[in-house]
Amino acid sequence: MAKTKISIVGPGSLGSALAVALHTRGYRIAEIVYRETAASKRKAKALARRVHSVACSLSNSKLNADVVWLCVPDRSIAAVARQLARKKKSWKGTTVLHSSGALPSDELSPLRKQGADVASLHPLMTFVPGVDQSFAGVPFAVEGDAAAIRRARQVVRDLEGTISLLPKSKKPAYHAWGAFTSPLLLALLVTSEQVAKLAGIPPKEARKRMLPIVLQTIENYVNHGPARAFSGPILRGDIRTLERHLKALTRRPVAQKVYRALAQSALQSLPAAQKKAQQHLLLKNSGNKM
Ligand SMILES: NC(=O)c1ccc[n+]([C@@H]2O[C@H](COP(=O)([O-])OP(=O)(O)OC[C@H]3O[C@@H](n4cnc5c(N)ncnc54)[C@H](OP(=O)(O)O)[C@@H]3O)[C@@H](O)[C@H]2O)c1
Repeated sequence: MAKTKISIVGPGSLGSALAVALHTRGYRIAEIVYRETAASKRKAKALARRVHSVACSLSNSKLNADVVWLCVPDRSIAAVARQLARKKKSWKGTTVLHSSGALPSDELSPLRKQGADVASLHPLMTFVPGVDQSFAGVPFAVEGDAAAIRRARQVVRDLEGTISLLPKSKKPAYHAWGAFTSPLLLALLVTSEQVAKLAGIPPKEARKRMLPIVLQTIENYVNHGPARAFSGPILRGDIRTLERHLKALTRRPVAQKVYRALAQSALQSLPAAQKKAQQHLLLKNSGNKM
């Protein structure tokens, strides 16, 4: 059976991973649509070659696919939707998706008004340039029109992902959660490198040395749950050790703030001895400026 024809608008990190994965699963990629800059055009052409498609600018695009998938930055979704809506009168029979985790399908309302079935379809995964990320096992969250949700379910099934409904009022909190799972996790690792520098260990060496403990922690979290994966001075209630940490971090005020915030979060949600005394210490002199 012929698979759905899909056009990708925005040949960036997500757009590229999607185009490759969909092509591999037998979808026809009708167009890779770029914005009118030389760099964007180059990226779109290279991607189009990989997925046996054509690259075209927004103004030259035909947009005659069954699904048009907007993979542009969140801030550009509404403007691109308005541009697309001006290109043809009726969008009946076309599904238009965007992949913002924070914004609702209403960003596509100019297209909805012209007959398109619209939805937001967000994969909870990280996509970076040059990595052909697979979608197998990736959880998607969907919200929007019934027909678009039906179409999204089929596409996600073909990509071997999973899908759940997400009310639009919950999207900002859902996406804040998503921020903790990858970008802020990475920020924590980079903050750790900064702290290693205070101990005279350069970032590259720190990265190498901390990898075993970072990976073991994730493995313990996965296999035994958060409480049993938790170790260290907060669990033991070693207040003098915490004091020494905070003092060592005075030369890195942002890292010290991160430390205080995460330690407070640990006291709220994880097992710890001497909770009250630790709380008191963490709140003492905590007015450092970022
Ligand atoms: N990356 C992730 O991990 C991830 C995960 C889940 C969801 N998402 C969502 O996916 C969407 C895209 O994110 P991304 O990380 O893939 O961004 P990205 O790598 O910056 O790619 C965005 C692409 O859109 C193009 N673009 C920008 N403005 C445009 C316009 N007005 N018209 C046409 N194309 C335009 C950019 O062109 P240039 O090539 O000229 O820059 C670029 O190719 C966002 O809604 C984001 O929330 C991303």
